[in-house]
Amino acid sequence: MPKLHPIIHAAGAERQHPDWAVMTEARRRHTRRVGRLLWEWSRTLGHDRMRRIRWRAAGLLHDALKDESPETLGLEVEDAGAWPGSLLHGPACANRLRAAGVEDELLLTAIAFHTTGHADFGALGQALYMADFLEPGRRTLSRERAEQRRRMPSDWHAVLGEVATAKIVNLLRRGIPISPATAGFWRAVTAPAGTIR
Ligand SMILES: [Fe+2]
Ligand SMILES: [Fe+2]
Repeated sequence: MPKLHPIIHAAGAERQHPDWAVMTEARRRHTRRVGRLLWEWSRTLGHDRMRRIRWRAAGLLHDALKDESPETLGLEVEDAGAWPGSLLHGPACANRLRAAGVEDELLLTAIAFHTTGHADFGALGQALYMADFLEPGRRTLSRERAEQRRRMPSDWHAVLGEVATAKIVNLLRRGIPISPATAGFWRAVTAPAGTIR
């Protein structure tokens, strides 16, 4: 793997957010908990230090623009109209990273689609999707989620299916349309195992 971009290194090795991040203190803590889970999973999977840093960086960075207004973020995302305002922070953050010179497409896809899921997720995209949902600071269903955390990363495919089901059912209950990205992700999740890259 090529050398890590300075923003990725700062986030993953020093747990620092970029200077353009717009986040409350609580949000910064959430991203650090997500990053810690990713770091632990990556270590358990036997990844080298550089890959662990990259995985933790995805956790630190995924919500870097979560507290910016959807109006502002809409100006930065080409197909903004296709996204609910509350989900624009993913693609907007990926765009900022790309503009800063980050070329790690699997990491950029992981961040852009962390809310919806995506058929093109690599292992990192799937891990971020799960860690965002399972991090221990989330209060709802805390016992069930703690159990799912304990099963990670060894029971990867089953936990991924459970998390995707929970998140998609939640969308359906709230009457939110299922995006093409989520539909494609669901097809990938329910495909035969062994498709993780
Ligand atoms: Fe998010
Ligand atoms: Fe998040």
